[in-house]
Amino acid sequence: MDKRNIAIVTGASSGFGKEFVKLLVSDKELDEIFVLSRNEEKLEALKSEYGDKIKPYIIDLSFPDRIKMFGEYLKSQNVNVKILINNAGYAKFCSYDDISIDESLNMINLNINGVVALGLTCIPFMEKGSHILNIASLAGFQPVPYMNIYSATKAFVKNYSRALNVELKEKGIQVTAVCPGWMKTNLYERADIGAEKGIKRFFCVASPEKVAKKALKDAYNNKDISIYGLHVKLCTLITRFLPENVIMKCWLLHQGIK
Ligand SMILES: NC(=O)c1ccc[n+]([C@@H]2O[C@H](COP(=O)([O-])OP(=O)(O)OC[C@H]3O[C@@H](n4cnc5c(N)ncnc54)[C@H](OP(=O)(O)O)[C@@H]3O)[C@@H](O)[C@H]2O)c1
Repeated sequence: MDKRNIAIVTGASSGFGKEFVKLLVSDKELDEIFVLSRNEEKLEALKSEYGDKIKPYIIDLSFPDRIKMFGEYLKSQNVNVKILINNAGYAKFCSYDDISIDESLNMINLNINGVVALGLTCIPFMEKGSHILNIASLAGFQPVPYMNIYSATKAFVKNYSRALNVELKEKGIQVTAVCPGWMKTNLYERADIGAEKGIKRFFCVASPEKVAKKALKDAYNNKDISIYGLHVKLCTLITRFLPENVIMKCWLLHQGIK
C-alpha cells in the first residue's frame, strides 16, 4: 500500500498553529494532517471544522518520553511526513524570579527540547522534498530582558534550524526558521502573569494568517529563514549593527522598565 502523505502541526489548537492547519487543509498532496496539542476538545473542534483529514493527537511536548511514544505511533503508521511544523511554544513576560525554577525549565523543555526531539523523531519518516518549519521569533535575534529564557530559546531555534538545514541538504529536506514579530494570538494570555516588570507594549502586531502564508511560501521556495513584515526585517537589520547592550537599553526604554 502507498504511504500516506502527512503534515504534522504542533500547537495546532490555537493561534499560529491553527492558521497553518487552515492553510494546509486545502493542500491536495496531503492525505492527513496530524494536529498535536494538550487540548483534546480544541483538536476535536478542528476535526469537526475541517473533516477527517484532521487527525488529533493529544500530547504534552515538554516531556521527551511522550515524544518517544509519538515516534512509536508513527512507526505503526505507513506515512511520509511531508511537512513538520514545530510551532508549540510559550513565553513569560516577567523577571527571572517571578516564576519558579520548574516553570523556567518547562519553557526550555517545550521551546527547545520539544523542537529538537520531534524533529529528530520525524526525519526518518521524511523523503526528499520534505519540509521542517521551526517557529523561532524576532526575539531570538538579541537578548531580551524580562523575556530572558523565551528569547534565548528562540535564538537556539533560529541557529539550530539554519545549521540543521545545511546538514539535511544531502537528504533533500529543507528546514526553515520562521521568525515572526508580534502576532495576534493567545500567547499573551499565558505570558502575562501581571508582573510588575513585564512586557506591556506591543508594536506592529501582525495577523498570524499572513505570517503563516509567508512562512509556507518561503519554505516551499527553500529559504532557511522566513521573516514577515518590513518592521521585523528592519529590527533584525539593526541587531547586526548596534551593540546588544544598546539594543537592550532601547528595549527597556520602549517598555518603560527602569
Ligand atoms: N504570538 C506572537 O506574538 C509570537 C511571536 C513570535 C513567535 N511566536 C511563536 O509562535 C508559536 C505559536 O504561539 P502562538 O502565538 O500561536 O501562541 P498560542 O496561541 O498560545 O499557541 C500556543 C500553542 O502551543 C501549544 N502548547 C503549549 N504548551 C504545550 C505543550 N506543553 N505541549 C504541547 N503543546 C503545547 C498550545 O496548545 P495547548 O494549550 O492546547 O496544549 C497552543 O496550541 C510559539 O512557538 C511562539 O513562541 C509567537
